[in-house]
Amino acid sequence: MNINKIYNLDVFDFFDNVDNASIDLIVTDPPYNLKKAKWDTFKSNESFFNWTYDWIDKAIDKLKPNGSLYIFNTPFNSSFIFQYLLSRGMVFQNWITWDKRDGMGAAKRKFSNGQETILFFTKSKNHTFNFDDIRVPYDSTNRIAHAAQKGILKNGKRWYPNEKGKLCGEVWHFSSQRHKEKINGKTMKLPHLTPKPHDMIERIIKASSNKNDIVMDCFMGSGTTAIVAKKLDRVYIGCEKDETYYNLSLERLTNLYE
Ligand SMILES: C[S@@+](CC[C@H](N)C(=O)[O-])C[C@H]1O[C@@H](n2cnc3c(N)ncnc32)[C@H](O)[C@@H]1O
Repeated sequence: MNINKIYNLDVFDFFDNVDNASIDLIVTDPPYNLKKAKWDTFKSNESFFNWTYDWIDKAIDKLKPNGSLYIFNTPFNSSFIFQYLLSRGMVFQNWITWDKRDGMGAAKRKFSNGQETILFFTKSKNHTFNFDDIRVPYDSTNRIAHAAQKGILKNGKRWYPNEKGKLCGEVWHFSSQRHKEKINGKTMKLPHLTPKPHDMIERIIKASSNKNDIVMDCFMGSGTTAIVAKKLDRVYIGCEKDETYYNLSLERLTNLYE
């Protein structure tokens, strides 16, 4: 199989190019059936879930026995995908809530949507998790400043805060790319409809892979997963069906190399 390559193929044709049990980490952001574009539109919920379960089956075959899988979707769709992954014997790790800092719509008869779900499953309990590489700043700065100097007595031992910050939780606050790229509060038309923020993908790749590991994304879009994997000295492989988005991903990767 060819690594450091994005294939301009449908996901099911792409899988024919990937060896079974060869991938360390899958990070993927598939269609959500929100009908925002042709590629995101399915005839019915049933056809959407049947298609989703079919690609998930193939993706699981590609993961190494100690591999990890992260799938983005809406909370509603994720509740079905969650059950499906359990039925396939995958090991549940986290239901990550991504607070996008950017509403999806002004709902007047319910609370406005502002989150997406990232399901984190592994193939076994023997997975990579680099918790020290993804620590986040402590919240209570006065207490932490005091503890940094004198320590806090806990169960007879002095506890000092970790210089790299606290362990990372499962509610993540990352501004959406759409929100980050607003100009004077105005949403700009981006070259891809739904790019994921690099800092969020970076957290996933740092946590669940090591240098030279193979990271796969079977819905590359503008190539975010490949770009971040490359920056972090991982190897990438993936596909994107739409030719315009495929070319965009190559262009963004070339800019990175240059
Ligand atoms: C949610 S977007 C991914 C965006 C990406 N995370 C980024 O940061 O740019 C999903 C992508 O899947 C692609 N796609 C949809 N159906 C596909 C299929 N059957 N095979 C391969 N790619 C497909 C779409 O063209 C779209 O670019």
